[in-house]
Amino acid sequence: MAASIIDGKQLSRDIQAEIKQQVADFVAVGNAAPKLVAVLVGEDPASQVYVKNKKLAAKRVGIDSDLMRIDGSSTTEDLLKLVNDLNNDSSVSGILVQLPLPDQIDSLKVLDAISPTKDVDAFHPENVGLLSQGRPRFLPCTPFGIVHMLFRSKITTSGKSVCVIGRSDIVGKPMAMMLAQKDSALGPDMANATVTLCHSRTKNLAEVAAAADVLVAAIGRPKFVTADMIKPGAAVIDVGINRTDDGLVGDVDFDAALEIAGAITPVPGGVGPLTVTILLENTLKAAKLMSV
Ligand code: GUN
Repeated sequence: MAASIIDGKQLSRDIQAEIKQQVADFVAVGNAAPKLVAVLVGEDPASQVYVKNKKLAAKRVGIDSDLMRIDGSSTTEDLLKLVNDLNNDSSVSGILVQLPLPDQIDSLKVLDAISPTKDVDAFHPENVGLLSQGRPRFLPCTPFGIVHMLFRSKITTSGKSVCVIGRSDIVGKPMAMMLAQKDSALGPDMANATVTLCHSRTKNLAEVAAAADVLVAAIGRPKFVTADMIKPGAAVIDVGINRTDDGLVGDVDFDAALEIAGAITPVPGGVGPLTVTILLENTLKAAKLMSV
């Protein structure tokens, strides 16, 4: 039987409707609307699309947003100055510096400079540390979006084996950390997994993947996950967005996986919309943190 396809667009619409109501409630008691500021350095076409989508989504739920476009030849110091100004601006709830940054910029230095209470990406070491201790402030957008997707598709993780392929700071590492915790923002059923974090030096990757009840592919290689790497009935979450001559392709060979998996996310229209949605949730949270 073919896998069910997890519709990230629809799930996002559902969650965004809830966030819209929460934003309205927040404003109704006298608060200013939350405000997200996105910083875009240079002209990277993919980044321009992502930032535009984030702005449109913010508008849909009643969150104000600003886009600060900075010249691609800017220095680390230019960006540090801008981030500092945004940290000190009480009208700004959340700050997002779109990655990747140009090579001449020290990305870690810039991300570390964002106030941890405005760090809606949850990239700051303080927020990473809080997550690792099981007391998160903000949850990282893509991994938490994936937990939402699983939850709303009635796929729990407690006691199950999860394989995460890819150890990036943005997806793989926080994903593994979250699912291995004792509890989650969506309850203990959406945590408590036995997690294996696979990467380029993993020797028996196909074997580990094929034993997983939930497989998260976040490696950035088109169609890397093939049919033999999927356990029959597994939930397959494809984080990859690879631009190829055939258009956008995920990290999973979708057509092959469809025949084996129990549930699968498409690319596009899978994980991507959830990442944006959680960013909105985090921006509202940041505004609430400022208002207390
Ligand atoms: N570039 C790719 N994904 C992300 C993300 O989640 N946040 C930011 N700031 N940049 C990205």
